[in-house]
Amino acid sequence: MENTVNLNSVNVVCADSLQYIKTLPDNCIDLITTDPPYFRVKACKWDNQWPDESAYLAWLDEMFAEFWRVLKPSGSLYVFCGSRLAADTELLMRQRFNVLNHIIWAKPSGPWNLQHKESLRSYFPATERILFAEHYTGPYTPKSSGYAEVCKAGKKNTFQPLIDYFRNARLALGVTAKDIRAATGKQMASHWFSESQWQLPNETDYLALQKLFDDIAHRKIQQTELDAPYHQLVTEYEVLTRRYSELVEDHRLLRRPFAVSSVVPFTDVWTYKSVPFYPGKHPCEKPAEMMRDIINASSRPGDVVADFFMGSGSTIKEAIKLGRFALGVELEEERYNQTWGEIFPKQSNQP
Ligand SMILES: C[S@@+](CC[C@H](N)C(=O)[O-])C[C@H]1O[C@@H](n2cnc3c(N)ncnc32)[C@H](O)[C@@H]1O
Repeated sequence: MENTVNLNSVNVVCADSLQYIKTLPDNCIDLITTDPPYFRVKACKWDNQWPDESAYLAWLDEMFAEFWRVLKPSGSLYVFCGSRLAADTELLMRQRFNVLNHIIWAKPSGPWNLQHKESLRSYFPATERILFAEHYTGPYTPKSSGYAEVCKAGKKNTFQPLIDYFRNARLALGVTAKDIRAATGKQMASHWFSESQWQLPNETDYLALQKLFDDIAHRKIQQTELDAPYHQLVTEYEVLTRRYSELVEDHRLLRRPFAVSSVVPFTDVWTYKSVPFYPGKHPCEKPAEMMRDIINASSRPGDVVADFFMGSGSTIKEAIKLGRFALGVELEEERYNQTWGEIFPKQSNQP
């Protein structure tokens, strides 16, 4: 059994995932896309390892706890599941991760065509489920990438001159929220004078504010405030907005990657064709195009992509092609040897 941790190359390991993952450091993986056993769906030994459903779910929960630990704060998680325990799996995942999508992989063809439809007592399951998740930033078990915090603080700092202009004018004249609402007819007028969610008023509202502030200044025999012309504020706002965009761009790598387009599935219903039979095919082999699209959507070149239930290596093979560092773990030695030979066809000895 290979047990070294080297995330700078392709790593395929023959091991029990739960034991193996515990040897990995925290926050070392960018994308986990994996297809764990479904529990008594397949007649294979690996799908019948647990005495009952609750033992299986307890094992899955322990696995998810490790996924949480090793997945980077900006990482993505895709978990395939069978239709029967998909709801239980999603509930478990939600305790640790923010589930973003429950994707339906609707297979365009399959054994249902051969079924005697009239003898069915419920609808034939022609789909697989893929749960797509990220870390929570709160309230359950947060692991923040820092991106949201950097953007929030950066926004406040960048727009501070304009925030101060409005806030100081209001403080100087003691203008109340009621006055502002009455002058502009807007309920959310406080945004123009707050730090956290500051917004530039539109021209009509700004002119109404100028009139209100002028009137109050005259009444209190005080210096007038909010005296900058609107076009000057707009120019300053545009300069600061550009500066803020540059700051966001500088921190882009902190953010969870996600990139789809009109040429790949961008909704939560997918229709990839199943892998046709060939001698030695894994009974649950996932289509290469689907794994390619997942990896492209949710990781960047050079990222670490892991599949802890590697099977035929459908994830690992695509990750290598796309220039990602790949980590695959498979329990069954015979399957591991076959997959290893397909990944490294020119090498005769395993590492
Ligand atoms: C559902 S299949 C995954 C198939 C894979 N998605 C593919 O495209 O070929 C699950 C795989 O996980 C392996 N497996 C089961 N329990 C495991 C464990 N505890 N650790 C590592 N691999 C395990 C099984 O041998 C099986 O090959």
